[in-house]
Amino acid sequence: MSLENVKAVVLAAGKGVRMRSERAKVLHEILGRPVLQFVLGNLREAGVEDVLVVVGHQAEKVKAAAPGCRFVEQKEQKGTGHALLQAESELAGFTGDLFVLAGDAPLVGPKTLARMLDEHRLNARDATFLSACLDDPTGYGRVLRDRPGGKFLGFVEEVDATPEQRLIPESNSGEYVFRCPGVFGALRDVRPDNKKGELYLTDALRVLVSRGRTVDACRSTQPVEIYGINSRRDLVAATNFIRWKVLERHMDQGVTVVDPSTTFIEEDVTIGEDTVIQPFTVIRRDVRIGRGCEVGPFAQIRPGTVLEDGAEIGNFVEVKKSKVGARTKAKHLSYIGDAVLGRDVNIGAGTITANFDGEKKHQTIVEDGASTGSNTVLVAPVRMGKGARTGAGAVVVKGDVAAGALVVGVPARPLGAGGRPARGGKARMARPRARSAE
Ligand code: UD1
Ligand code: CA
Repeated sequence: MSLENVKAVVLAAGKGVRMRSERAKVLHEILGRPVLQFVLGNLREAGVEDVLVVVGHQAEKVKAAAPGCRFVEQKEQKGTGHALLQAESELAGFTGDLFVLAGDAPLVGPKTLARMLDEHRLNARDATFLSACLDDPTGYGRVLRDRPGGKFLGFVEEVDATPEQRLIPESNSGEYVFRCPGVFGALRDVRPDNKKGELYLTDALRVLVSRGRTVDACRSTQPVEIYGINSRRDLVAATNFIRWKVLERHMDQGVTVVDPSTTFIEEDVTIGEDTVIQPFTVIRRDVRIGRGCEVGPFAQIRPGTVLEDGAEIGNFVEVKKSKVGARTKAKHLSYIGDAVLGRDVNIGAGTITANFDGEKKHQTIVEDGASTGSNTVLVAPVRMGKGARTGAGAVVVKGDVAAGALVVGVPARPLGAGGRPARGGKARMARPRARSAE
């Protein structure tokens, strides 16, 4: 559902000095996705379609992380108020409600955004900000009122606050709804008279109050949601918050997560009922796992992987961009990359698909019912036919292993009479070339 007469500006021009990073703060990742994309996703889910992102530091990279948005550039980062002013001409003539969100606050979900807008409209306000009472408000702007719970007067930033003001628990989330164009008029009266010498967006709300406009808070019901990402520590706190939400969603859908504290599942992952995720497992984005599967302990499932029903991926097994057929097992110490494994395949301990020749990736195909002996290396491109087998330590070099055949040795050849590799066997083998697993 898209909202009528609502637009949004996301402030994402800052460098994020406290991250101590080359990378723009909003591009740091939470479970494989840039912080900024969580903010944009929350807006989209709330029904806000027209989103303008203020870019500056690493502008091109930030733009690439924000598909479907419009952009304005803030060449020098002179504060959050100055950042919003850059969007003024793009919003000329707009008379609706404008969300202004910090690009570094990924946890304010769509329900909260919707509630902010509801309260803003029901009370016919000129500005609504999201606030929360934090046990430790260090680093946040504090909300100033004429008495506790009383009339809103303005904000004071931590660096500008007196020791008494620092004791105020009510903190500013940096998330606002403004009636347009009033906020731009107020911003023009804001001066950079603070320790940082910046144009603070927060001061625009004080100006609105002084002009007799209605401004008040929408109180957060879940204080952690206002957490902004300013440091690496904040990134961990936000990751944990989102990680638990993702895990809970899978549990609600019938997945057993044996130890949530050591399980990482990124977004865009589907998992069927009765699948068990054992401890210390990492499942990256864009992965489909069927019903009744078992994954881990100590497994990594990378993007583009599909596990069909009943598949089992065990300890120290990495699977990348591969299809693993129903009931197929790879239980120990394997790398399976760019592979298509049929049904009821058994991948022996230590089997490696050597998919990379130094230049290109190649595919491995293992058909239904085939099995590999321990420490087999499948040097791709390679195909094992139905029911084919390899002996322990076999190195299968470029070519096909016929259906039902057993190949052994280095390079692997069909096992002939007397238990020795037969000469000129059926498997068509090219000259071995060095390949490595990647
Ligand atoms: C801001 C608020 C503070 C609030 C906190 C919540 C101000 C003055 N302070 O502080 O009251 O408690 O957020 O997290 O607004 N940005 C720009 N251009 C700039 C400066 C910042 O685009 O010139 C962007 C940043 O990239 C960031 C967002 O605005 O995404 C917030 O800026 P940040 O410097 O993190 O503000 P805080 O100090 O956290
Ligand atoms: Ca911040």
